[in-house]
Amino acid sequence: MYSLRHRRGGNEMKDKEVREEAESVQLMINDSPYTVDATLSPTTKLVDFLRATAGLTGTKALCREGGCGACTVVATVPDPESEGGTKTFSIQACQQLVYACNGWSIETVEHLGDRYNGYHPIQQSLAGFYGTQCGYCSPGMVMTMYGQQKSSGALTASQVEKALDGNLCRCTGYRPVIEAFKALADDGAKALKNKLVDIEDAFKTTCPKTGKRCTGSCSPKGTATVPAREREITVQGVRWFYPTSLLSVYSILDQLTEGEKVRVVGGNTGQGVYKNDGPFDVYIDTRNVPEFHTVEEISGEVTLGANVSLGRAIEVFEQAAGNPGFQHLQELAKHWGVVANVAVRNIGSIAGNLMMKHAHPDFPSDIFLTLLAADAQLAIGNSQDASVAYVSLEDFLLTDMQKKVVVAVKLLSLAADTRIRTFKITPRAVNAHAYVNAAFRFQVDENDGFLVKSKPLVLYGGINPNFIHAANTEEFLNGRRLTEQGLLTEAAGILATEVLPDSLPQDSSPAYRLSLTQSLLYKAVISIVGSEASLQNQSAATVIERPVSSSKQTFDENPEMWPVGKPIPKVESIMQVAGEATFTNDEPTQPHELHGVFIQSSVGSADIVSIDTSEALNLPGVVAVVTAADIPGVNDFAAEAGTEVEEVFASGKVLYAGQGIGLVIAESHEVASQASAKVKVEYANTQTPILTIKDALDNGNVQPDYNLVTGKREAVRVGDVEAGFKAAPHVIEGEFDMGFQFHFPLEPLAARVTPIEDGYDVVVTSIWPAEVQSSIAQVLGIDANSINTAVRRVGGSFGGKISRAHVVSTAAAVGAWKTHRPVRVALDLRAFITLVGGRDPFYSKYKVGFDDFGKLESVDIDIVSDSGCSANEASAGLGAAFVSNAYYSPNWLLKPFVVTTNTPSNTFMRSPGIFQGIVTIESIMDHIAHYLGRDPLQVREVNLAPAGAERPSADPIVKNVFQEDILPLLKESAEYELRLAEVDAFNQANRWRKKGIAIMPMCFNLGYPDFRFGVLVNIYSHDGSVSIAHGGIEMGQGLNTKAVQVASYILGVPVAKIKVKATSTTTNANSSHQGATVCSDIVLLGVKRACENLRARLDSARGKLSEAGGGDVSWAELVRICKSSDVDLSERIWTKTTEYPDAYDIWGGACAEVEVDVLTGQYLIRRVDLIEDCGKSLSPYIDIGQIEGGFVMGLGFCTSEKVKFNAETGEKLSNGTWEYKPPSALDIPVDLRVTILPNSSNTSGVLRAKATGEPPLNLAFAVVMALRKAISAARAHRSRVEWFKIDTPLTVEQIQQLCLVDPQDFSV
Ligand SMILES: Cc1cc2nc3c(=O)[nH]c(=O)nc-3n(C[C@H](O)[C@H](O)[C@H](O)COP(=O)(O)OP(=O)(O)OC[C@H]3O[C@@H](n4cnc5c(N)ncnc54)[C@H](O)[C@@H]3O)c2cc1C
Ligand code: FES
Ligand code: FES
Repeated sequence: MYSLRHRRGGNEMKDKEVREEAESVQLMINDSPYTVDATLSPTTKLVDFLRATAGLTGTKALCREGGCGACTVVATVPDPESEGGTKTFSIQACQQLVYACNGWSIETVEHLGDRYNGYHPIQQSLAGFYGTQCGYCSPGMVMTMYGQQKSSGALTASQVEKALDGNLCRCTGYRPVIEAFKALADDGAKALKNKLVDIEDAFKTTCPKTGKRCTGSCSPKGTATVPAREREITVQGVRWFYPTSLLSVYSILDQLTEGEKVRVVGGNTGQGVYKNDGPFDVYIDTRNVPEFHTVEEISGEVTLGANVSLGRAIEVFEQAAGNPGFQHLQELAKHWGVVANVAVRNIGSIAGNLMMKHAHPDFPSDIFLTLLAADAQLAIGNSQDASVAYVSLEDFLLTDMQKKVVVAVKLLSLAADTRIRTFKITPRAVNAHAYVNAAFRFQVDENDGFLVKSKPLVLYGGINPNFIHAANTEEFLNGRRLTEQGLLTEAAGILATEVLPDSLPQDSSPAYRLSLTQSLLYKAVISIVGSEASLQNQSAATVIERPVSSSKQTFDENPEMWPVGKPIPKVESIMQVAGEATFTNDEPTQPHELHGVFIQSSVGSADIVSIDTSEALNLPGVVAVVTAADIPGVNDFAAEAGTEVEEVFASGKVLYAGQGIGLVIAESHEVASQASAKVKVEYANTQTPILTIKDALDNGNVQPDYNLVTGKREAVRVGDVEAGFKAAPHVIEGEFDMGFQFHFPLEPLAARVTPIEDGYDVVVTSIWPAEVQSSIAQVLGIDANSINTAVRRVGGSFGGKISRAHVVSTAAAVGAWKTHRPVRVALDLRAFITLVGGRDPFYSKYKVGFDDFGKLESVDIDIVSDSGCSANEASAGLGAAFVSNAYYSPNWLLKPFVVTTNTPSNTFMRSPGIFQGIVTIESIMDHIAHYLGRDPLQVREVNLAPAGAERPSADPIVKNVFQEDILPLLKESAEYELRLAEVDAFNQANRWRKKGIAIMPMCFNLGYPDFRFGVLVNIYSHDGSVSIAHGGIEMGQGLNTKAVQVASYILGVPVAKIKVKATSTTTNANSSHQGATVCSDIVLLGVKRACENLRARLDSARGKLSEAGGGDVSWAELVRICKSSDVDLSERIWTKTTEYPDAYDIWGGACAEVEVDVLTGQYLIRRVDLIEDCGKSLSPYIDIGQIEGGFVMGLGFCTSEKVKFNAETGEKLSNGTWEYKPPSALDIPVDLRVTILPNSSNTSGVLRAKATGEPPLNLAFAVVMALRKAISAARAHRSRVEWFKIDTPLTVEQIQQLCLVDPQDFSV
């Protein structure tokens, strides 16, 4: 088929034409033409072109490796499958080189809709369903769905959910995002569709063209406008080729000189995985080479061009699977459907994937393994003679691919008695590479006990770079009957001798991966023999499939105080979904602006001997390098943020790998990045880094943390613990570890510092502008009034932008001071994760005494937190303060300790220490229940603190709301007893699937700390509209919306007439950080008071007018009259701690049900019911957003977010989306029901509401409790009923290992 004649000399390329061609490519962006000329680097990414050159900052960026979806745009590209045709789909702009977009048409979020032209229905729906919080992920979400709609035409609910597999959101918990888009699906639930009608009304816009209501139907079409043409351009010495035939590709390859490094550009997504394969001298674009994209189905053969995308291949497989001999393609389609994510599959190609495997044998390629199982053949084209040779997948790996290309993949039909089964076991439901993947092929005689008629294929990935076949196992199984009892136990034994997983710190353990190989073989065989297996064992046959999700939200309406309490969309939501809401790094570039990139330490503990910057400074475009020696003031960015010094740049001693040693400042980020890698740091006295709590304790790096009641570094003591133990009939001891969690806001840290006439203007991703001002003043040694800090919003913080923002703002300030030019420091995800810390890991060691019912008599706990290299934000003291949760014990001894390690300084993270304290007591409850053989819920119930009960660190309980209100409601609405029985019955019936269900209480005592805020409210005399500038920061929590609701209620002005302005150190000087749940309360108190004072003045004015007979005037008229009669229309409030309300308790409860696949450890959270007491909610959907988002963030801490270090260097290995796994949209509970506790109120707080930001996160531990039950049910089969400790995160790996899978049980 590919007998092409090669013509040397390459006259295919039409040399003359090429020479005449400008060294540029053309593309359309949002219907406007753009030229990319050779002044831009050949490796410029589309995302940077969009943001920096086209000024379209609605497209965001975080990971730059295809793992977060923030940069999603929609591309219309030539479709070589159909002459002159195009295809439209979503892509990640961080993956595309802009030179590869030759002739493409790109649509960004700005093209869909905006405040001038009206908003697109997808945008309206996301805003109207409360699907945005910080809004940083929102443009990417919108574009993913827009791309899905355009590529698939009609949308189904299931497609919607699957389409979100590559978009991370750290705020919302995904539920409202999913529902916003499901409302647009053809089969979307009626209730969702009804809601959509209201939403469209709320965001009603008039079409500027028709004058009628916008329907979204004239939304942009976006077509490729530049026809494909053979071309070659040279960009800064790098050649880009755009061939339009295979012959041209051969010709290009053939011209290459020795040593020239070539990149064949398929979807270019491979760079998201292997980032350091370049630099390349030559790029060959494959988009317009028809042979690479051909799809042919002729009888007995399916042939796919090598660069057919994975997504297109799935479509072909699904279609072909209907034909005899090709049913196995359905299995491949299913498997490929969980490779990467939609945007990668839309453009990432088969050959690209296989070539990655070719270059990196350790790559656990799903494509390679599954094609090998299907006996696919690869057509390899040789440029030297234009010949094509067909090779097997394994021979391909051994083929020298110099000057060769993969041309096509051929799949032949398989005999009817052939069965293929494939598996991919991952740390997260989607968008994760395999721990282990497997593919099996058996030719069997169904009528003869499933006799294996020929040598089967038993293939695994993720074992070690050389391992593919379990050859001995294949040999062993040949000729055997799969229904033979004991066969698989024996086969597993053979596997154990030939599968030798390597041991790399970033990978899962060899023991787990070996066990998976055995389990997956067993799974495959049980699936093949089907009903021949016993009913119990049939539960091994499949992996757990996630059904389409559902949800319910229940809350009181409380209309008496509307708009306070009214469910309204966030005030900035529609701007967020359109990309109009701007973030720090969206600030347009200023004249002469420079970019700073950190020089980061490569070792964890050492002395710096010298820093050689000469090579970096010689790089064109580099302007300066600043280090500690350049700091004019004090080298400490923690002005008020702690008592320990935290250096801007390490001066002398390096405390952790990744620490900033200096900043390279250059004309572009790319050059600064390249230059920073060229700085040579010489170290001495390099020590093995201390990375764990255990190592730190062994080293004596430990000190007591604060007792929050006494303010001293001492234990919390209640009663007489020793006497309690003596009196207690039972005493148990235990310990466990809780891991690190990265905040992972979608917006990374960024700052820009601009020299101005009297100092510096600073824009920064900070939730503590006042401290940014102080820290820069301290570092530069200048007065605070020289620093003007402003923050419009941040894209999520969760505590990570309290003090850590100073890392970037002070570094940028030193750069601006040195160069006298604006300096921007915007971290990429890798730098972000390695430069700053997160939630501190904890270790708890406990001894508890209790009676026969499990009632606590004495509790003694060591709570140890790892604060990283500085103890400024240690949270063990908080852990001790919150450990009692909803329980009572007469005797407590709670000893908080803090250790320091050679890791970045850990910092407060949503529910800091509190979460670990609550997890500690809940684990203890489970331990007691296990010891006594009692139901864990009963044990919890007997320990619930009654009204009036004393607590270790808070005032006595007024009422146990969990016990009296939440638990009865939860038991009833969640049908707990009924489902408990169902779970038991399920576990009896299934050997390899286990369920668990658990209920957990939560009590979060919220005191008003020493935080103060300035609030300024202005009424404008022109029209009576209102502005609020408060000292808090909107970061997704809905503070601005609640502020508007409160102001609207008090002033009596419509919500639409009130706007919240950016926070600045001029209007809101000296305000505290927005770093705890209670800050919203305090800011709202300030807004309330300011509005009350204004209202009083205006009411008094109206009163006087009335007395004079003219009181019946409109608000706007009244305001005008006030101005002319010297009534001050501005009110500034400084919130006074003396006026703060009393502390109060926030109560909650959760019931979680899970199902575990025992053989693999994978699980599904089938259902979660959550109830939280919000008092009288100020804004119900904002509170529900906090509850759901907090819960899902807690879920990440409890299950999937694991961080690993290189033990020798201290380098943080989990430093990107490839390695670090926050929950995805398909990890959340399938059925999520949230209730705001009805009939609740609050005598404290603001307008009878309770805060919601942090407490719900703690309830995520209910999932671990349910998993414990499921794991226990699995262990019972091995008669292992002893207590087992669970560390968090309880990963898929840990679950499987705890389930004690033993091949002895592999019966049929
Ligand atoms: C976030 C993310 C998650 C992923 N998850 C998975 C996963 O779970 N499982 C999995 O198997 N893969 C996974 N991948 C890999 C993904 O499948 C590949 O990135 C993709 O298939 C590569 O195709 P591409 O066209 O983009 O290749 P490119 O990036 O364009 O090219 C990759 C390599 O192939 C070469 N090449 C391309 N076409 C040809 C050709 N015709 N002939 C010769 N050489 C060629 C290029 O020179 C280059 O060396 C993931 C990738 C990302 C970014
Ligand atoms: S996927 Fe592009 S920035 Fe994350
Ligand atoms: S709203 Fe999704 S990341 Fe903040």
